[in-house]
Amino acid sequence: MSKQEVILCEELESSLTTAIGNCPHDKLFILTDEHTHRLCLPQLSNIPTLKEATEIIIGAEDIHKNLETLASVWQALSEKGATRHSLLINLGGGMVTDLGGFAASTFKRGIAYINIPTTLLAMVDASVGGKTGINFGGLKNEVGVFNDSKFVILDTEFLKTLDAENICSGYAEMLKHGLISTEAMWEELVSFDLANPDLKQLQRMVGDSVKVKERIVEQDPHEKSIRKALNLGHTFGHAFESWALKRKPILHGYAVAFGLIPELYLSVAKTGFPTEKMRQTVTFIKENYGTLNITCDDYDELIELMHHDKKNQNGIINFTMMGAIGDIRINQTATTEEIKEALDFFREG
Ligand code: GLY
Repeated sequence: MSKQEVILCEELESSLTTAIGNCPHDKLFILTDEHTHRLCLPQLSNIPTLKEATEIIIGAEDIHKNLETLASVWQALSEKGATRHSLLINLGGGMVTDLGGFAASTFKRGIAYINIPTTLLAMVDASVGGKTGINFGGLKNEVGVFNDSKFVILDTEFLKTLDAENICSGYAEMLKHGLISTEAMWEELVSFDLANPDLKQLQRMVGDSVKVKERIVEQDPHEKSIRKALNLGHTFGHAFESWALKRKPILHGYAVAFGLIPELYLSVAKTGFPTEKMRQTVTFIKENYGTLNITCDDYDELIELMHHDKKNQNGIINFTMMGAIGDIRINQTATTEEIKEALDFFREG
């Protein structure tokens, strides 16, 4: 797996032209979904290198992140004459970069691809680090491969196309990056006015946040060790997300923000994370994300969902906890009693 280059661009045209110039190809394809086709592609329409590109449009949102959509992309590539030397540009949120990355990684045993993330979540997380894939058999990201894009082009101008919910969703992953990084970064994140975001400041914070992810992925691209730090908030988070899916679906980042609460509670109880910093983080989350209305009757279902997490080994639920900000403790466990206590804290704390 070659290392991908992340470009925090000032000007999309020149960054994209450079990236494409560095990826010799015969034919150029651009994958969009019905939202980015309408809202984002027009911002690229004057770029001369893209004039030759063939667009492939797929349905938007997670429900389309499936085998059928993947097959439709393979089909379009095949029918429109893509070869092993073709290049695919993924323009969209995490669904497009994950599915497009997987389509590129498997078509004719792999063609090169470039990610242009258009949501905050995809900018700070999904598009960086080479995880590609689709949902399968009712399970999220069940089938996929690790394979880096050649370039990730971050143009924070796209943040202007996002609604407040999608900003909050991506911001949860930034909060996670702050917790696993430095006090200064965490402090800035929990003091930020997320309800009225200063986009200039947010743009700089996106750059800092992506660097945290890049640093970790570089050390452990295949998640054998330290990359598990990026799973902070995700053990409870994925269970909350699946639980909500059967009732009233929530955005991934909301599930992660909610997941950080019980996981920081466990970090205080088990690995010595400072109570005051946990409280400050929880207050920020509650103020900006609200809560999820679970009751104690939901605990068994949530724990069952945690048992299905693909991060587990030998049937034991795997947690990432924190000893302090930046002090990452991977491969932690908790008893059922402790998990229930953490859920009590989530509801009442
Ligand atoms: N989203 C977590 C990771 O890329 O490892």
